[in-house]
Amino acid sequence: MDDDALIAEAKRVLKLNDLGGWTRPTATLYPHQWLWDSCFTAIGLRQYDVRRAQQEIRTLLEGQWKNGMVPFIRFSDATTYHAGPELWRSDVSPDCPPDVRTTGVSQPPMITEAVVQIGAKLAPAKRLAWYREMYPALARYHEWWYRDRDLERSGLVTVVHSWETGLDNNPAWMEILHRHALSPKLRTLDKSKTLIKLLEMRRRDTSVVPAKQRMSTLDLMAFYDQVRSLRRMRYDDARIMRRHKLLIKDLVINSVLIHATHLLGGIADEIGEKLPPHTAQARTRGADVLERLWHEEDGVYYNLDTRTGQLVRVLCHASIIPLYAGTLPEARVQALLRHVHDPEEFATPYPMASAPLNSSYFNPQRYWQGPSWMMTNWLLWQGYLRNGCDEEAETLRRASLRMIRDNGMHEYYSPIDGKPAGAPDFAFSAALALDMLAAERRIAS
Ligand code: DGY
Repeated sequence: MDDDALIAEAKRVLKLNDLGGWTRPTATLYPHQWLWDSCFTAIGLRQYDVRRAQQEIRTLLEGQWKNGMVPFIRFSDATTYHAGPELWRSDVSPDCPPDVRTTGVSQPPMITEAVVQIGAKLAPAKRLAWYREMYPALARYHEWWYRDRDLERSGLVTVVHSWETGLDNNPAWMEILHRHALSPKLRTLDKSKTLIKLLEMRRRDTSVVPAKQRMSTLDLMAFYDQVRSLRRMRYDDARIMRRHKLLIKDLVINSVLIHATHLLGGIADEIGEKLPPHTAQARTRGADVLERLWHEEDGVYYNLDTRTGQLVRVLCHASIIPLYAGTLPEARVQALLRHVHDPEEFATPYPMASAPLNSSYFNPQRYWQGPSWMMTNWLLWQGYLRNGCDEEAETLRRASLRMIRDNGMHEYYSPIDGKPAGAPDFAFSAALALDMLAAERRIAS
């Protein structure tokens, strides 16, 4: 695909998934509105239709809970999704909005970045109006993270489900899940090939995408289990922080939140608002809080399991994402680049492998255990730029576009040969390809 064909194809995919004011990630597998997918979609849309990009964020915020949490899915009426409203039953919480069905946990808080990226496309007066409109919801969302998910006031928020990280079955989380959070029933199930086969046949997601490209059946059952556990606690964060098995200081959420809080501070200054107390405190702490997640010997960041107080020493691309936070000391940046350039780890022809090549988890086509994804590529692209790694940024941008040009807009790709996997006609892949292309040419409306 040349540039013009890429632009036309990306717009086609975005139009195909536009359900009038909000965008589903893709028709078959994900027929609802996802938090970070919509933010990435808006970041691409702003390149040729700012109003539509604004609308994407407005509809997303319709799902916001009374306590400020923005759930990671705002459900539509579609009935085909495998983990739909009947699993989540968000109305068990008094915080859930009365007329919208949602999940009960959030996702990497990309909304603030999307609001600012859209703002950059608006004339100054319109930008101020946009910021004023968005600020109350954003401030409530940030405050929820810091107030309810960081009870020990460490500056690092706690994540309670791997779906919340956006990187679903990534190796680092699966290690924790298997070690600490498999119920006795699931441990038994793990031993029975026949039962697993039976459950596999009932999976809705694998009727659309080959099973070997999705998460394992055991992991999926464990994800459902964790949702039921959170649901039994009525998604009440105070109870969850006391009783839940998975309480993780997660790298992706914290890196995104640190940068988002920096951006929110800028918005507040620009429109003359005062940040709410916990968010204001977090703003002053900056990214040195990430030091708690640094592993000196391995020269890399890891998730922290608050139940054991230990770093989870499993490498995946989440370990490199702190570059996105934008405030790492130079020595940390250089240490992360060593992993990026290591041919046994992340130096693959198509960046950025979601698991390193030498990991026992690595599989080039299995969901978050090897493939390259446009959304994490975009985060790393921004992270490289923010840290002065211009060469890495440009290499990643060009390779990402090559992957799209050669294969179209899929959910994810093999980092070895760029071959597509997962669902086709994927909105965020289309949107982020446009955004990356816009670095070198204008995208006409
Ligand atoms: C899924 O259903 O696999 C989703 O990734 C959850 O967000």
